[in-house]
Amino acid sequence: MSYYDTVKDMLSRLESGLSKHLDDLFLPLHMWVREVQISSYAGKPDEMTNILPIASDDDGPEGPTRKIISIKGLTKVFGPKPDAAIRLLEDGASKGEVLERTGSVVGLKDIDLDVYEGEIFVVMGLSGSGKSTLMRCLNRLVEPTRGSIVINGTEIRDLDDKGLRNFRRTQMGMVFQNFGLLPHRTILDNVAYGLEVRGTPAETRRAKAQSMIELVGLKGYESVYPSALSGGMKQRVGLARALATDPVILLMDEAFSALDPLIRRSMQDELIDLHDKLKKTIVFVTHDLDEALRLGDRIAIMKDGELVQVGTPEEILSNPSNEYVASFLNGIDRSKVMTCESLMKRPEVVISLKTGPRTALKVLDDSDQAVAFVVDKDRRFTGLVKAEELLKVIETSKPLAAAVNTSIRTVRPDTKVEELIAIMVETDYPIPVLNDDGMLMGVINPGSVMDKVRPDEVTISEEVAA
Ligand SMILES: Nc1ncnc2c1ncn2[C@@H]1O[C@H](COP(=O)(O)OP(=O)(O)O)[C@@H](O)[C@H]1O
Ligand SMILES: [Mg+2]
Repeated sequence: MSYYDTVKDMLSRLESGLSKHLDDLFLPLHMWVREVQISSYAGKPDEMTNILPIASDDDGPEGPTRKIISIKGLTKVFGPKPDAAIRLLEDGASKGEVLERTGSVVGLKDIDLDVYEGEIFVVMGLSGSGKSTLMRCLNRLVEPTRGSIVINGTEIRDLDDKGLRNFRRTQMGMVFQNFGLLPHRTILDNVAYGLEVRGTPAETRRAKAQSMIELVGLKGYESVYPSALSGGMKQRVGLARALATDPVILLMDEAFSALDPLIRRSMQDELIDLHDKLKKTIVFVTHDLDEALRLGDRIAIMKDGELVQVGTPEEILSNPSNEYVASFLNGIDRSKVMTCESLMKRPEVVISLKTGPRTALKVLDDSDQAVAFVVDKDRRFTGLVKAEELLKVIETSKPLAAAVNTSIRTVRPDTKVEELIAIMVETDYPIPVLNDDGMLMGVINPGSVMDKVRPDEVTISEEVAA
């Protein structure tokens, strides 16, 4: 027995002998054992493959995966003189200089990008940075000026009209920010639309649409019309419609940006669940950092039509490639970036101002909450009420309003956490989050904030600073 074999054998026995209670000890030890095992295989690559996949050019973030989208040298110039514009770009001119000298707008400049099968790939950047142009080049709603786009093995720039139509119908599903539902069609017929265009028989497409509607949680709404649905529900329909044709790639351009903050976050969670179930490749465009970090397996950051950085959220947060990315992230202090929207929860107990104090007391007692949120008939926030105050007004036969504490500090969904913390130190109530109309959107419980802002954010900011 070689030295390594002996050590390996010893460690293996030690490893298996350790009790499950010793998880903390077990994990680092296990990893060490792994390392010893791997180094003992050095020089025997065949056996090593049994332990670790061998890295190849096609490796995605989590081991070997297939490139489903491969973009090389993609440039898009809008306007009269694309060739002159490209020559200027090649000579190092900026987007602004090109516009000044040719009257053409540079939408995309020399993009190289790969998307791996099954990942959620987020494209993030400020408005006008070229995100939508990039997205539309993928299904040639915008014709690229230069470069190559290979999707699922096909160079899409080579497709003729018929080929392109077929490609769009079979490979791509698209979800838009403004939902794009057909108002005169029922939900079922909206979801079945893509299949209808494709010529799928009525029976089959109805069955498929039905199962997609159930998948996105809209069972029971099959025969209603879009106008009867809330924004979040409409976007579920949009999602169901895009998924009904079983596309290889799902393209989502600011798909959740028009939704209310709470709905938006629950849609993000649902998209993550759906993605876990369906394992589809998703290209998701957003200008919102929190959304990008929540959704992205990898994130591409764009600026003025150029790709500035591509990486996992962790890589980008801990190692921004330049000043622009760093300032975009502002990740030095998460509390300056994060907003109340990303921390708020649904309020547990909400009661109407019209409610009688006895009923209110019963509702509050039945919950395990210390306070209830009181709203008027338009759901505008009025104040907070506690059980002891309710008891007082019951004794003195006054209405609920007399028990409500109306001097409560509130925040907006886009209030930065930094500001929230300043408010929190002065108050011991949960903090209501109100929209511009004063409607109750959510609540922030003091205890939940610090957990979110620490501890990993602190480590990240240290790495950035280093
Ligand atoms: N059809 C068009 N004609 C001319 N310029 C366009 C057109 N579409 C987009 N652009 C320009 O291309 C740039 C990128 O736009 P876009 O891709 O829509 O950005 P984003 O989606 O990131 O907000 C912008 O400068 C925009 O004005
Ligand atoms: Mg856009």
